[in-house]
Amino acid sequence: MSTAPIGIFDSGVGGLSVLCEIRQQYPYESVIYLADQAHVPYGPRPVEEVRRFSEEITRFLLSRGAKLIVVACNTASAAALRHLRQIFPQVPFVGMEPAVKPAAETTTTGKVGVLATSATFQGELYASVVERFANSVMLLQSTCPGLVEQIEAGNLRGKETAIILEGALKPMLAAGIDTVVLGCTHYPFAIPLIEEIVGPGVRVIDPAPAIARQVGRLLEQHGLRAPADSAGTITLLTTGERDQFASLLPTLEIDLTEDMIEVDAVVWEGGAVRD
Ligand code: DGL
Repeated sequence: MSTAPIGIFDSGVGGLSVLCEIRQQYPYESVIYLADQAHVPYGPRPVEEVRRFSEEITRFLLSRGAKLIVVACNTASAAALRHLRQIFPQVPFVGMEPAVKPAAETTTTGKVGVLATSATFQGELYASVVERFANSVMLLQSTCPGLVEQIEAGNLRGKETAIILEGALKPMLAAGIDTVVLGCTHYPFAIPLIEEIVGPGVRVIDPAPAIARQVGRLLEQHGLRAPADSAGTITLLTTGERDQFASLLPTLEIDLTEDMIEVDAVVWEGGAVRD
C-alpha cells in the first residue's frame, strides 16, 4: 500500500483526459499532473527533444514522490517510453499507444480512421501496433494539424476546430470507416464535435478508460495501491502560465470540481524542471 501520488504528464492539457478517467476509477489515489505548456505542441518537435523533456519531467515527478508514471501523451510515449523504462528500471510506467487493437476487433467495414500527431505515426510503437493488430484492416490516418493548439486554447467546438476535424474526417467517412481511434490525448476533449461530424454510425475510441485500468493493474501488481479510505488529492502543475492554465480548466468541461485541487507553476531551468 502507498499513498504516494501517481505522476502523470503531457505536453499540455491533453493528459487531463486520462487523469479524469484515473480519478473516476480510483478516487482514493492522489495524482500529480505536469502539463509542459512551455513546449506544447510536442508533435512537430524532433524525437530527441521530446525524449529529453520526458526524461526530465519524469525525474521531477519522481522527486515529488511519484510511485508510478503515466506518460499521458502519445507523442511522448512514441518518443520516450522505451528510453524511460531503460533509465528508470525500478519505476512502473504506463504509456499511450493508438487503440488500433480494439478498433480492428470490432470494425465491420474493415476501415478504421486514426487521428494522431505525425510524431506518433512515425514512431516504432505505432508501427508495432499496426503490424500486430491491423493486418486485416485498412487504416486511414490524419495528423489534424493545429488541433492540439485549438484544444490548448479551450476551443473545443469553434469554427477553426470544426474545419480541422472535418478536413480529417470527411475523406475517411467517404472511404467507409466505421471506427475512429483518438491517438492523441488532447482529442477526447473534442469528442462531442467529432461525434457530430461522424454521426451515430461511427464508433469513436478514447483509450483513457483502458489506460486507467492498466494503471490499476500495475499498482496492484507492485503493491502500490492507496488504501480505499484515503482522500486522494490532485496537484496540477504547468511549465507555462499558472493563471492561464487555471482559467482553461473550466472550459475543458472536466469534472474535477468536488476535489481538492492545487494548481501551480513550475519552471524549466538549466534543462531541468524546478519548483
Ligand atoms: N497529447 C499529446 C499526444 O497525445 C499532444 C501532442 C502534442 O503536443 O503535439 O500526442
